[in-house]
Amino acid sequence: MSPALILAPLRGITEAAFRDIFVRFFPGFDRAVAPFISTFQGSRIKPAKFKDLLPENNRLLPVVPQILSKNAGHFIATARLLAELGYTEVNWNLGCPYPMVANKMRGSGLLPFPDKIEAFLDQAHREQPLAISVKIRLGRRNPEEIFALLPVFNTFPLSEVIIHPRTGIQMYEGAVDLDTFARCLELCRHPVVYNGDITSYAVYQRLAERFPAVKSWMIGRGALADPFLAARLKQLALPADPLPTLAAFHGELLACYQQMLSGPSPVLGRLKGLWFYLAASFSDGEKILKKIQKMKKLEPYHEFTREIFEHGTWQPDHQGENP
Ligand SMILES: Cc1cc2nc3c(=O)[nH]c(=O)nc-3n(C[C@H](O)[C@H](O)[C@H](O)COP(=O)(O)O)c2cc1C
Repeated sequence: MSPALILAPLRGITEAAFRDIFVRFFPGFDRAVAPFISTFQGSRIKPAKFKDLLPENNRLLPVVPQILSKNAGHFIATARLLAELGYTEVNWNLGCPYPMVANKMRGSGLLPFPDKIEAFLDQAHREQPLAISVKIRLGRRNPEEIFALLPVFNTFPLSEVIIHPRTGIQMYEGAVDLDTFARCLELCRHPVVYNGDITSYAVYQRLAERFPAVKSWMIGRGALADPFLAARLKQLALPADPLPTLAAFHGELLACYQQMLSGPSPVLGRLKGLWFYLAASFSDGEKILKKIQKMKKLEPYHEFTREIFEHGTWQPDHQGENP
């Protein structure tokens, strides 16, 4: 059976414009979770925050909005606005590891507090109409924290539980903890989505063999490094020469950012975010990245990227390492 593939939210990169252009060039993803909107202002949330989620900006790939919040009232107010836009599901971010977020008991900072999570989900299920899924890590500091959370999740009608098997303080360091993920899979009564370090078909295959109960897979950085990854996983046809497709994708993205953002800095900033991952799939990736990261003007950037797409050597991680 073909796996269900979900494009992960990467704030600052996988916003609506990126998603729209990406899926036109690179098939394979079935849906996406959008980067989070935070609910500092509660119901007074700015309309600009919803731009990324307007249905007209999301025609090609179904998207589930994500909220980062520790305040159930704010979450509910935001979810109601999302329901007015036509959404039927919202994802609650319980995974964000950044200290600025987690130290304020938001994202992964809430994971050590099952009682707060239970009270939040209880109110959120009673007072807003959307189905709720959660995106979590194994814990904030300790991978055992999740075992106090799964019984709580099991008492609510969650649509799915997306697990990135690291702790918050690990950020993205160290190996994903597949043994703990296996224990979670046995205890969770909701559909579980695996997320973390899928960088190649070989990595995916090993995970799919070990976890046959997992039907949906979320991929972030791996798909930015190798945009053909979702097609590889679904064994779809790939272009004989990937470089023209990559060049066309990059060209549209660049044009779109130039139209959307003002001045070279923000445009280059966005593109540097992509190259941080994409460069690794070219030989000499480190040199490419270093050079791009130093660029401040668009003209040399145009020239250098044209050179890469015409003469670069594309060699994504086909074999992969055991995660
Ligand atoms: C730059 C960046 C931004 C991210 N933004 C979000 C976000 O807005 N919401 C979220 O749930 N996860 C976010 N994540 C985490 C990813 O969605 C994903 O869980 C993580 O990268 C692991 O998956 P991967 O190994 O396939 O990339 C972000 C990760 C990165 C590197």
